Amino acid sequence: MILKLNDKTLLTSKNYSNGHWIDSDDGTLLEVINPADGKLFAQVARCGSSETNRMISAAHEAQKKWSQSLVKERAYMLGNWFRLVMENKEDLARILTQEQGKPISEARAEIVYGASYIEWFAEESKRVYGDTIAPPSNDKRIMVVKQPVGVVACITPWNFPIAMLTRKIAPALAAGCAVVCKPANATPLSALALVVLAERAGFPKGLINIVTGKTSEIGAEMTSNKLVRKLTFTGSTPVGKKLMSACSNTVKRTSMELGGNAPFIVFDDADLDKAVSGAMISKYRNAGQTCVCTNRILVQHKIYDEFVSKFKSECEKLVIGDGQKETTTIGPLIDSNAAEDVKSLIEDAKIKGARVELGGNICDLGDNFINPTILSNINTSMRVFNEEIFGPVAPIIKFETENEAIELANQTDFGLAAYFYSRDIGRVYRVSEKLEFGIIGVNEGIISNEMAPFGGIKESGNGREGSKYGLDDYLEIKYVCVGGINE
Ligand code: SIN
Repeated sequence: MILKLNDKTLLTSKNYSNGHWIDSDDGTLLEVINPADGKLFAQVARCGSSETNRMISAAHEAQKKWSQSLVKERAYMLGNWFRLVMENKEDLARILTQEQGKPISEARAEIVYGASYIEWFAEESKRVYGDTIAPPSNDKRIMVVKQPVGVVACITPWNFPIAMLTRKIAPALAAGCAVVCKPANATPLSALALVVLAERAGFPKGLINIVTGKTSEIGAEMTSNKLVRKLTFTGSTPVGKKLMSACSNTVKRTSMELGGNAPFIVFDDADLDKAVSGAMISKYRNAGQTCVCTNRILVQHKIYDEFVSKFKSECEKLVIGDGQKETTTIGPLIDSNAAEDVKSLIEDAKIKGARVELGGNICDLGDNFINPTILSNINTSMRVFNEEIFGPVAPIIKFETENEAIELANQTDFGLAAYFYSRDIGRVYRVSEKLEFGIIGVNEGIISNEMAPFGGIKESGNGREGSKYGLDDYLEIKYVCVGGINE
């Protein structure tokens, strides 16, 4: 399919380094595949450590000046960028769907969601406050000021190529930092288009740099280079652990937004129709490829049969296909490896006694497609209970009591998002307090927005993105003790 864009200059194969669009030093290219048809869609620069090193040095120089800029100036430029992203929403959405696969309606929503972080941090840039603290003696005064961390390396995933980048770059720039960004190899074009617009917004050269290509070389440079003072990563827990350990040599600050295993609990006092709608959106958004996607649905015994039947009939309405078609509600997975992983989770569950209520079969649209699947008769030995599924598979578990549900929900190393449906106000407080997760959706299946702190506990990571807390991840606390003031 030929991609029709209003502004073709948004599509670039080059990387952005110190205000210049560059090719890789060795001239090699990275292939970008459309997951809906498996065909080559574009090629981009395949850069490595030398290009990354130069970008880091440029960012270091640019950051010195930017850290002295007025916060109003930062807000103004972020505001320009926000407006340009919104004006180019349709083109950005088309590029995003072409390389990522999600339905075009979801891609449009992601552009608005991603832009909301730029707008939010344009506003928040003006709200960096310090403290004065009561001194231990009368001849001293204690001040606390907040200063930018410095150069930030941002590594982002393919599931939200725009939003995961804006929610790192925008707070970094608002705080006075400079960035070197590495988008996922599967989805570099959306990220490059975002930077084309950042250039038009007028940010000084060197402040924003973007590198695509040799993942391990780029990662090694980012984690070992002393000029990088912070690394922020969204992706899987195993990769996050490796990055954290590599960053320890130069004691960099890290923010890690890692994997999840979200429980979705439906108590028997819940509004069942609302619970079904919440489960649909939190399970099947982006074909199940978000780290806050529902991973395990826990339903209380009295309403179990009714829930399964209503949920199944809603799933049957999903339209699977190429995301560029307006009618599609569920697209392909990112690639055939992802689809194979999901198939092997289904097989493991079946071997261990799961019943297939819906789907579970091969989809004839191509290797990357998985039909929406519902599995019941789930037990805790199954991989679908313990691992992040990252696909359109909904395992459903029956439980008897509130305590049993909480125990099952917390029985995971992950701690990102959890959801539950109940109309009992006491239970709402009890269960929210006992669930060991960073984000809790109560009677709500969509919890992501720029105003709220997004992040997890346990092996789901550290740090928070978005909200008034998101800026702190890019600021250092400096304590200034002024002595001798009575002399
Ligand atoms: C993610 O999957 O990493 C982010 C999902 C979201 O922002 O809702």
